[in-house]
Amino acid sequence: MPNSTPSQPDSRASHIECYRPLARVFHWLTVLLLATQFPVGLYMVYRGPGQNIWDATTNTLYSGHKLVGVVIFALVVLRLSYRLIVGAPAPAPTLTRWQKVISALNHWSMYLLLVLVPVLGYLAICYFPALGIFGGVSLPAIVAPDRATYDQVIDWHAAGAGALAGLICLHVAAALYHYFIRRDDVLARMLPGLGDSRLETPARQVSSRR
Ligand code: HEM
Repeated sequence: MPNSTPSQPDSRASHIECYRPLARVFHWLTVLLLATQFPVGLYMVYRGPGQNIWDATTNTLYSGHKLVGVVIFALVVLRLSYRLIVGAPAPAPTLTRWQKVISALNHWSMYLLLVLVPVLGYLAICYFPALGIFGGVSLPAIVAPDRATYDQVIDWHAAGAGALAGLICLHVAAALYHYFIRRDDVLARMLPGLGDSRLETPARQVSSRR
């Protein structure tokens, strides 16, 4: 049977390998935490250093940002370990060779930054030092205070977060392109709620346009 056209979904039952349920849980938990972390980080810097408002709200925002940063780091360590041990499904069959290369580069660069950005943030609060959260608990220091190094490290933290945001935009744009324009199963492979690791519904479009 010849390839279907974009407007005529292929009626063959395709068996597209999905991400495993735990991989999908890791993915969408990361999304949820980053969706909180980016706006909180930007708003606390706007209120504190930007507007010079150092009240309870600003302190709570800083505390929340530190805590969520530690949680993101722990989650990414678990997620990366799982990824390296269990692996991931082969790239979707509708991807061209260059799309596979760009998507792998993007995924691994995001993993790298998901580790680096929280580590740099944590080092920054040790160098400042500003390890207290929610007016009581103090996070453990891993390096001695040093203001000059703080200035450098906090710039790297911000630059890393900016780069991560850029890669995420590219990644989301690609996922939406596959869903709305290519109309293939790339997004479905990562959606929550699928019981096992194979999609057995007819593909939205199986044909490959290279
Ligand atoms: C908010 C931050 C996000 C981060 C940090 C992120 C990160 C990642 C990473 C690292 C992978 C690779 C998984 C692996 O193979 O090990 C991945 C896969 C994927 N993500 Fe995201 N993601 C984010 C948001 C999103 C959103 C909003 C969507 C959908 C609109 C999405 C859709 C996908 C899909 C479909 C895959 C599987 C791609 C494939 O089959 O090759 N991601 N994501």
